[in-house]
Amino acid sequence: MSPCRPPALYGILALCASLALGSVAIAQPGPATAPPPREAGNKPAQVRTLRLPESPYRYANIELPSHFKSRTVRDLDNTPRDNPITDWGATLGRVLFYDTRLSANNTIACASCHQQKHAFSDPAGRFSKGYEGKPTDRNAMPLVEARFYERGRFFWDERARTLEDQVLMPIQNQVEMGQDLARLVEKLAHEPEYSELCKKAFGDSRVTRERTAKALAQFVRSLVSYQSKYDEGVVQVRSRNDDFPNFTRQENRGKATFLQRCASCHMPQQQDAIFSSQRAQNNGLDADAKVADLGVADVTMDRNRVGHFKSPSLRNIEFTGPYMHDGRFAKLEDVIEHYSSGIKLHPTLDGRLAGPGRVAGGPPGRGGTQARGFRFTSQEKAELVAFLKTLSDQKFVTDPKFSDPFEAK
Ligand code: HEC
Ligand code: HEC
Repeated sequence: MSPCRPPALYGILALCASLALGSVAIAQPGPATAPPPREAGNKPAQVRTLRLPESPYRYANIELPSHFKSRTVRDLDNTPRDNPITDWGATLGRVLFYDTRLSANNTIACASCHQQKHAFSDPAGRFSKGYEGKPTDRNAMPLVEARFYERGRFFWDERARTLEDQVLMPIQNQVEMGQDLARLVEKLAHEPEYSELCKKAFGDSRVTRERTAKALAQFVRSLVSYQSKYDEGVVQVRSRNDDFPNFTRQENRGKATFLQRCASCHMPQQQDAIFSSQRAQNNGLDADAKVADLGVADVTMDRNRVGHFKSPSLRNIEFTGPYMHDGRFAKLEDVIEHYSSGIKLHPTLDGRLAGPGRVAGGPPGRGGTQARGFRFTSQEKAELVAFLKTLSDQKFVTDPKFSDPFEAK
């Protein structure tokens, strides 16, 4: 296998080098090869070549807009002291994220179920397919603003205590990637590009389990979306309650409804940046706790947490369907209909969605006597959908620094 570079690569390198003004040129790791992700049919194995810019893309200390710099938002950041994002660390994480060699039979990568175009979720259906084609238990979560979840817990049921723990779990999961971690580390240690990247990221060339975890976590934390229409609007007004000058009338009306009905859960703590719940809740999907997924209660064994799930950030929600922990809703319209007329009574239903007598925005309660919904008019439903689409960030879903660094040859 001759690691020869096609001419197009020089273009890429030149471009990246000229963007990275003033940085020291660092030798590019030799092209590595990996099998392609599984596709329909049995095509002959085709080699994928690793291509990285000569100077790394910028992941550390990116310039965020002012509404991300408030004290409140900074407090939500779960980056641990011993694993800050560095440009080479996240680059190593990016390579791992897209490398099919992480699965037992070299067929799938993290990116098979977390696709950039879809804000790192899986559009394939309610459940994803693992390395042997078996379905996952739950819907693949989008990976957006994972860095800003103060509790620092991951998965729909929050069973992972830290992101560094979480990223090793899919590798070993029997359905997802089916890989023995010790074997994987040994396998990667034999790949020269991984030794080289470890050296750049961590100072010496040892490939270890801890470094694999740290680098993957750095890449996931670097997936920050902040360039949506909402972001352009919010910096132009004094209060989020004001109409945004760059929004249509429909989007502004949708925003008003969202702020009234949805924001206390989906943008808590008076901040405009993150759009995730910051704690798991029950949003009335199921009435019967016994047959359904128990959610957080499976982990904590606490009856009061039955049916509680984490909600990922709503940023880029337009691209991340199907929705909810079991992917039961195909479209945003279906989600809005749920909140309008489909809320089911359940002993742990959040008070804000429970029956009459509950004050909107009140403390989470045990549910009223009667389930309800917000009874939106068809106009309000359309406005809400229009508003949710203002959270889409084209730059995020197409940014080359988050894209597949392996190219098919
Ligand atoms: C076969 C599909 C599949 C693969 C491969 C996969 N994931 Fe996932 N991922 C999922 C599913 C499904 C969930 C939700 C599982 C649950 O909550 O029980 C998830 C959840 C997550 C979460 C939690 C997000 C949050 O906000 O709590 C992170 C982070 C994540 N995956 C990262 C990764 C990384 C890193 C890899 C590769 C090492 C990976 N995933 C490989 C399907 C997959
Ligand atoms: C009581 C808190 C609460 C309120 C109020 C609430 N939600 Fe949710 N939302 C959640 C939770 C919890 C989930 C995740 C539930 C699950 O998957 O089991 C969720 C999930 C979602 C999802 C799917 C996320 C995904 O990645 O699949 C969307 C979209 C959504 N909510 C929009 C809204 C809108 C719009 C409103 C207002 C009409 C609203 N929510 C009101 C708690 C709430």
